[in-house]
Amino acid sequence: MRDDTLVVPEFGVVPASSVRRTLAGTERQVIDLVERAYRDHGDRLTANPPSYFLRFPDRPAARIIALPASIRGDAAVDGLKWISSFPANTAAGIPRASGVLVLNDPATGHPYACLEASLISAARTAASAVLAADWLTRGGSRPVRVGYVGCGLIARTIHSYFTATGWSFESVAAYDAVPANAARFAPGVVVHDTAEELMRACDLVVFATVAATPHVSAPEALERHPLVLHVSLRDLAPELIAEAANVVDDVDHCLRAGTSLDLAQQLTGGRAFVDGTLYDVMTGKAEVRRDRPVIFSPFGLGVLDLAVGKFVYETARAQGELGIVPDFFPAKSS
Ligand SMILES: NC(=O)c1ccc[n+]([C@@H]2O[C@H](COP(=O)([O-])OP(=O)(O)OC[C@H]3O[C@@H](n4cnc5c(N)ncnc54)[C@H](O)[C@@H]3O)[C@@H](O)[C@H]2O)c1
Repeated sequence: MRDDTLVVPEFGVVPASSVRRTLAGTERQVIDLVERAYRDHGDRLTANPPSYFLRFPDRPAARIIALPASIRGDAAVDGLKWISSFPANTAAGIPRASGVLVLNDPATGHPYACLEASLISAARTAASAVLAADWLTRGGSRPVRVGYVGCGLIARTIHSYFTATGWSFESVAAYDAVPANAARFAPGVVVHDTAEELMRACDLVVFATVAATPHVSAPEALERHPLVLHVSLRDLAPELIAEAANVVDDVDHCLRAGTSLDLAQQLTGGRAFVDGTLYDVMTGKAEVRRDRPVIFSPFGLGVLDLAVGKFVYETARAQGELGIVPDFFPAKSS
């Protein structure tokens, strides 16, 4: 018998202009969505297999990453983020990262939306960084001297999420391999000449570079125990990681793909340097060692893109901003 409850969805497109409008002023909501996605992931309501890295022998600095994922429950959605990183773009004034997020209907499997993904990715990454900073400083004093190592889109978005959600800082510091990027990071920014110097001057340090291998190895850089949000994952020498308290978004994801944690695992022959996941911290399952610097390393889970992408899709649809592509799918054969 034919099941008439299943219908082929319409296919809609959400361009960057609509994503930007939809996300404006929603920082608190996006942080809540990201927290919910982390909780769903920790509660095993998700599928989030390892990201697939497509690399090119003729273009070694470039890559395209596929992040397939699925969330079950009330906010069910399946999908894929397909995001490129072409660092040479920036010299031509073109964004390094570009991508699409495809949402699939859990009932029929049909893809029903294609959204511009770099803004959604930046928003969910910023939300996860601010969420981690919140949870990892609860019960203590809030950091007041923030510093950014690498001052591109991700660093700017993280800083705007901090300021939009009530964090206030006595000083904002910046270091970038391209000094002009640091100088224009924020009004009144204090520009440092090295990452290490910045780290010694700040109690909250955000790494958002495109470093492929570690470039910070001096133990003095961490001797004042800043909270480090290691968003770009490959900046810190494995020796520093091995001596710190480490919180991750997902242990298996983070300890692969040549991240600093992956290198620390190879250095120490184990994973004992990982204190737990952010979910473990939120649910009281992990006790983070406070006698040393705390480092949060988020690999970046596809479930976060799905959660934020679904929100963007639903808002854009409700506001009449969805670009429906008529007859995208083949007509039904009777
Ligand atoms: N973990 C996650 O979930 C997640 C999500 C999105 C992006 N990222 C990562 O965040 C990083 C930043 O992304 P973006 O879009 O802001 O990139 P971007 O190209 O816009 O900016 C990167 C900035 O870092 C600077 N830089 C590069 N190498 C440096 C170094 N060794 N020291 C200091 N500065 C350096 C560049 O000059 C540039 O200003 C990338 O590595 C990206 O892969 C992580």
